[in-house]
Amino acid sequence: MVLNSGDAPTRGATTDPVALARGFNHLDPAIAATAYETLGAIRRGCPVARSEELDGFVLVTGYGEIREAAHAPERFSAYVDGLGAAAVVTEMREAVAPMFETDEEHHHQWRRALMDFFTSAAAAAQEQYVRAICRETLQELIPHGAADLVGGYTQQVPPLVIGRVLGLAEMERAWLSEHVRALYGAETLTEARQIGRVYADFLLGQIRERRAHPGSDLLSRMVTVEVDGRTADEDELVKMTMLMVAAGHLTTVDACATAILQLLEDSALRERVAGDAGLLGSFVEELVRYEPAVAATGRTVTAATHLGGMPLSPGDRLLLAWGSANRDERHFADGDVFRLDRERTRTPHLGWGAGEHRCLGRHLARVELRVMLDELLRAVPDFRLQPHATVRRTFGVIRGVAALPAQWSRR
Ligand code: HEM
Repeated sequence: MVLNSGDAPTRGATTDPVALARGFNHLDPAIAATAYETLGAIRRGCPVARSEELDGFVLVTGYGEIREAAHAPERFSAYVDGLGAAAVVTEMREAVAPMFETDEEHHHQWRRALMDFFTSAAAAAQEQYVRAICRETLQELIPHGAADLVGGYTQQVPPLVIGRVLGLAEMERAWLSEHVRALYGAETLTEARQIGRVYADFLLGQIRERRAHPGSDLLSRMVTVEVDGRTADEDELVKMTMLMVAAGHLTTVDACATAILQLLEDSALRERVAGDAGLLGSFVEELVRYEPAVAATGRTVTAATHLGGMPLSPGDRLLLAWGSANRDERHFADGDVFRLDRERTRTPHLGWGAGEHRCLGRHLARVELRVMLDELLRAVPDFRLQPHATVRRTFGVIRGVAALPAQWSRR
């Protein structure tokens, strides 16, 4: 059985949007199965609402309201305590990660300095490498006839790619891949902390080496660039590198897993994309609208203001639910339906974010997802879920799938 966000809400649960918002906690695993039903009910009743969870925050679910917040860094800072993307970094909470958690001119300077590594040409230059590691990973899986496609496939490729973009040597990429998978798969906080410390030390070693001998890679640029007359300090760089790896790894792993689940659930769609790899680009873009891997990130209010009619004070924390914006019926007809042929209108979806922090890695992510799906469909065309497999979607800062126990004919 496939459990998904289309499953019915619990009988007797409240449908009052204000009450739903009040109890909404995106980090509670129990909400994952019905996250978009709940967010839809909240959005239709109150697109900006207060939640009492996680020490209180403002939940923003409407398209226009999310866009407004993302485009106004002078009122809504990207630095946010405990809610946003930085919450996925278990170490270094006290340091502020350059670029990710900064605003306006400081942020622009950082982004400009790193842009060369994330152009569409730079992403295209990774395609051959991505294809090679997909093939290598699949060659190992094929003879088994069965595997968890999340642990065995989607988690294997992106950490090596982001390691390569950073400029790590092959052995170091393998180290990084093993440790980030262990870190984000850790079952206890103690285990996560232990791995997190070893991982932070590894990154610090890389940072110091680049300081001493800068090369032409992304990490060397991060270490040497001067913004506001200084280079970033070691704590800032470790946190920034952790966030860069998380941005490149967790998102793509989960987006690919969600894409595979979409294909498993819709055989007509699967037949179309398997028969024409040229459709994979549109498939990926619609997937990022429909089920964006970055489900919700935060902002902090820095000046007294209003959003969607709600008065806000400095220090209020916002949670921008990007995936909810993408289904907002005021902007997307049948937003709850996946449509490969959806017309691209003047209303851009917000699956890559919006405004100054719009995803820097989107060209790379598009290449990775297209190639990972293409290689999977070619290597094991008849992959299907194992009988009685239970598939559980996850939700939080990141939206994904816990595991995909699949099987295929051995060749
Ligand atoms: C399907 C995969 C991905 C999705 C859905 C996604 C989505 C997003 C979103 C929504 C944001 C904005 C967050 C905010 O404003 O609070 C963002 C930012 C960012 N993403 Fe991605 N992303 C993906 C893959 C990647 C990859 C592969 C990289 C490569 C390193 C990457 C690098 C970044 C960076 C550096 C930022 C921060 C930009 C800034 O603060 O100016 N992303 N991403």
